[in-house]
Amino acid sequence: MTFDRRIKIAPSILSADFANFGAEIRAIEDQGCDWVHVDVMDGHFVPNLTFGPATCKAIRPHIKTVMDVHLMIAPVDPYIEAFAAAGADIITAHIEAGPHIHRTLQAIRGAGAKAGIALNPVTPASSIEHLMDMIDLVCVMTVNPGFGGQKFIHSQIDKVRTLRKMIGDRPIHIEIDGGITPVTAPLVSAAGADVLVAGSAVFSGGSVNDPSVYGRNISAIRTAAEKG
Ligand code: DX5
Ligand code: ZN
Repeated sequence: MTFDRRIKIAPSILSADFANFGAEIRAIEDQGCDWVHVDVMDGHFVPNLTFGPATCKAIRPHIKTVMDVHLMIAPVDPYIEAFAAAGADIITAHIEAGPHIHRTLQAIRGAGAKAGIALNPVTPASSIEHLMDMIDLVCVMTVNPGFGGQKFIHSQIDKVRTLRKMIGDRPIHIEIDGGITPVTAPLVSAAGADVLVAGSAVFSGGSVNDPSVYGRNISAIRTAAEKG
């Protein structure tokens, strides 16, 4: 993975057809997405359950771009090796998921993946001040994690601006997760975000039988973000 700050669209397969992940991933990649965002939920850290490393391993051969794994689980550390072995390019853990996030980030890089840290809406930008040399990505949650299709929380835009200043020239991506649409995308790109996760806004209205809808949805988000 090479680093750049161009706008990247990362569809969340949380909004895809769970019985058809392989075909859904091929469809969104054919339609121009940059990364594939994979939401892992444990029914404990967040009030919803999705899937684990076995599913990640099964979908890996279908992903040609970047497998971006967002762990909404606690504890995290016992599962890092399994997600790395499943082929995750980026593993993102929540700062709120445990008392020793420093160790978690070390373990993610130690397992050969890029390390991401996710911040819930109440967690300030300053919480990662002493972790800047340990991360490849910061994920700003613009909804409370757990479900797709929620409303974008506008107070997070200021956090993105603060993080962008803190990052300076460091090769750290700012990813936004939750409520991204062509309306909200330019707000966060203008504040300094480069990776936009979008679930419902990419998958709504389309299907593997009608994938051009995915392409139009991805382009609409990208075009709006690039104007931001
Ligand atoms: C929420 C997940 C998101 C979610 C985004 O907990 O981390 O990735 O799928 O969905 P939308 O784009 O529908 O808000
Ligand atoms: Zn996510």
